[in-house]
Amino acid sequence: MTHTVTADRYGVMGYPVAHSRSPVIHQLFAQQTGQELRYELLRVAPEKLDEAVRQFQRTGGKGLNITVPHKRAVFRLVDHLSERASTAGAVNTLTFRNNEIYGDNTDGIGLLRDLVVNLGLHLEEAGLLILGAGGATRGIVGPLLEMQPRIICIANRTLSRAEELVERFAVRGPVRACSFDDVPVAEPYDLVINATSAIHGGEMPPYPAAAISPTTFCYDLSYSLHPTPFCKWALEHGAAHAVMGWGMLVEQAAESFHIWRGVRPDTKPVLKQISISA
Ligand code: ATR
Repeated sequence: MTHTVTADRYGVMGYPVAHSRSPVIHQLFAQQTGQELRYELLRVAPEKLDEAVRQFQRTGGKGLNITVPHKRAVFRLVDHLSERASTAGAVNTLTFRNNEIYGDNTDGIGLLRDLVVNLGLHLEEAGLLILGAGGATRGIVGPLLEMQPRIICIANRTLSRAEELVERFAVRGPVRACSFDDVPVAEPYDLVINATSAIHGGEMPPYPAAAISPTTFCYDLSYSLHPTPFCKWALEHGAAHAVMGWGMLVEQAAESFHIWRGVRPDTKPVLKQISISA
């Protein structure tokens, strides 16, 4: 009797999704750790999300990464939500086990690993400025507060959205809201994070130049093969460093891989390969 062993199936679901580097990253993790798996690119329109996830589950899929624009909508399909996904208000990792769906969010821990482990930043007592108050910011404020910074200031084009986030996170640590032209600059910021989605509209927001000092480390959650407009802007205004979010991308994937496979891949060689060959 022949017995066919099929590799466990995973994938990333988004709309659009063609640009996603996740299939390459997970294949590199699988090779490195000697795991056999398939990782698919799944383009799913918002109105098809529920059926697509259910079908993936029905046909034996083991896990999914969920990306834009489904990170919130997928909440309704999840049976068990992790605390960090609940705090972030977004799910980027689904695990299918015993007919149930587990939802988690690895974006925040991915950013922290990149900042603290890969880049060697010390966030305790640091002054942080986050530009933008959308879904990306909501996912990172909780984990950043756990590092006990002196302050996290959230600056946004629409002040009320920054204020809403501050209301949500104030119980967890020192956060304040401001608009771009009203950023408090009495003390220099150690870290300025760009979490706006302005790059997608090809626009250049009025980033607050006064927030940048020669000791400021700038980090863009966006990434590209060439320096992003924010990184260029930061260096032009005298920042010490400006780094794109390739490391966060690889680290959040590694955390998902760990949840699914129980092994933690070495991210260094993958980060090196992915950021020069995207
Ligand atoms: P994401 O999930 O990527 O955070 P989002 O929830 O739509 O996406 O949030 C996008 C963020 O980028 C918001 O903070 C948005 O500012 P507003 O709240 O004022 O809309 C910010 N953003 C997008 N384009 C921008 C631009 N051209 N200038 C300034 N901020 C911009």
